[in-house]
Amino acid sequence: MEPNLILTGFMGTGKTTVGRLIAQRLDRQFVDTDQWIGDRAGKTVQQIFAEEGEDRFRAWEAEACEALSEPQGLIIATGGWTLGSQNNREALQRGGCVICLWAELDEILKRLPQTGERPLLAGGDREVRVRELLQKRSEVYRSFAWQVDTTKRDVAEVLLHVMALYGSVSQLNDPDTFYVPMGERGNAVLLGAGLLDSLGPVLSARGLRGTVALISDSNVIEHHGERVFRSLALSGFEVRPVRVPAGEESKTLEMAGGLYEQLVQGGLERSGVIVALGGGVIGDLSGFVAATYLRGVPWVNCATSLLAMVDASLGGKTGVDLPSGKNLVGAFHPPLLTVSDLTTLHTLPEREFQAGLAEVIKAGLIGDAELFEMIESGSTEVQEIIRRSIKVKVDVVREDPFERGRRAALNLGHTIGHGLEAASQFLLRHGEAIGIGLIAEAKIAERLNLASRGLSEHIEAVIAKVGLPTRYAYLETDAIVRLMRSDKKKQLGRLKFALPRGIGDVAIGVDVPDELIREALEAVCDAP
Ligand SMILES: NC(=O)c1ccc[n+]([C@@H]2O[C@H](COP(=O)([O-])OP(=O)(O)OC[C@H]3O[C@@H](n4cnc5c(N)ncnc54)[C@H](O)[C@@H]3O)[C@@H](O)[C@H]2O)c1
Ligand SMILES: [Zn+2]
Repeated sequence: MEPNLILTGFMGTGKTTVGRLIAQRLDRQFVDTDQWIGDRAGKTVQQIFAEEGEDRFRAWEAEACEALSEPQGLIIATGGWTLGSQNNREALQRGGCVICLWAELDEILKRLPQTGERPLLAGGDREVRVRELLQKRSEVYRSFAWQVDTTKRDVAEVLLHVMALYGSVSQLNDPDTFYVPMGERGNAVLLGAGLLDSLGPVLSARGLRGTVALISDSNVIEHHGERVFRSLALSGFEVRPVRVPAGEESKTLEMAGGLYEQLVQGGLERSGVIVALGGGVIGDLSGFVAATYLRGVPWVNCATSLLAMVDASLGGKTGVDLPSGKNLVGAFHPPLLTVSDLTTLHTLPEREFQAGLAEVIKAGLIGDAELFEMIESGSTEVQEIIRRSIKVKVDVVREDPFERGRRAALNLGHTIGHGLEAASQFLLRHGEAIGIGLIAEAKIAERLNLASRGLSEHIEAVIAKVGLPTRYAYLETDAIVRLMRSDKKKQLGRLKFALPRGIGDVAIGVDVPDELIREALEAVCDAP
């Protein structure tokens, strides 16, 4: 049976009006959950609220969602807060594709009738109530991957966008969606095969229009530039491709400066959008440019390397390197959306895939022992591996969106790893350096009796198993330590380590004596 189309969103966004019209167009059955409840309860939603209370109404909603969870080709409009419940959300998603309609506060106020039937608005100042409710709920609305902004659009336009989006994304094989909660700037993350071919309708439905600067690197643009260009152009965007040389060497202020000029010349205004298409380098660089160009423009991060999918594209950190260290200049500027299209991994060189696995192993060590075991046993379930890694990172970011505490756990392997990466002058790939860093830091944890003996060997075996180096060719220890110190993750001049206590458990903020750092480095060095 055809999947259902489920329209959700705040009151006044037009779910019912648009849903009815689509049902007519497609000759499908329309179901309004409030109506469904009213029919079964034998009274209106207002009466249920007044006589039995909100809880009883929410119970009815749960029943409705269960009953409507089969794919039957239905067009469903939910109540404004039906999908505030995760269970309801999962139930309806089983049956089809959920599209969230959005509108700005002023527009909602204009649309809501002055008197009437909205039980949640009863009593008090209406505008204040609407503002409060919208504020409280907007994070949930933002967490839906498929969004149609209805602000300043009439019903006919909204209808077209919903239809185009539904037509495009209902072809997809059920992508996973996640939400990186960063308050007002939280963003949805999509993971699935073929997503890049739907990018145009997805962005245009979100209300983006005009010029798109498509920033990519010389490798990725060859393989995937065309499909992204086509999808965006077909949805009416003026696409300006911008090509950057591949590699970490491009993550500099000079490169950012050159990009600003190209964006000016390409006519990118504040109403435009930057689309980053590439690995972590392109994401960090484009995100940084998006954070600073014209004091900030929106951007979308299309991650094409394993490392970017499981790590770099999540959490809103953007930045560039300085000659004295990595990521020393940057900004928190989360993208509107992160899109990880699994088909791009087909062209990713093996060595890069392996480098990404280092971050996967890190994710397992931080918070998912089963993920660690999957890698250990040679699992080839790529989507599941990425899904689990994303979940670890998103859970940490949820606890600490702006890196004040727990988020430091994500630095596992990175204190030493970044020092090695820089000392090798980037001959070691980021992921390769992190792999060695994980082993060395586990050795430190053992020496500090944080971890039991054998942990570092266990980690080393897994790093070796995926084909990553477990030792670095000789680099000067002093240079590594100096570069570690200029890395930004220190406090008051002291290096603070995140160290493994076991698989799936990390200690943060650990002081490590200098001689232990040196000892661990020497243990993972192939002496000349
Ligand atoms: N912002 C963050 O939170 C964060 C987190 C972790 C890492 N990072 C940064 O990410 C960067 C490393 O990311 P990376 O390993 O993706 O590096 P990268 O962007 O340089 O990509 C690695 C290589 O793979 C190529 N490539 C990428 N996708 C491809 C594809 N689908 N097909 C063919 N070739 C492809 C690239 O051209 C490049 O040569 C580092 O600069 C690191 O600091 C940032
Ligand atoms: Zn990393």
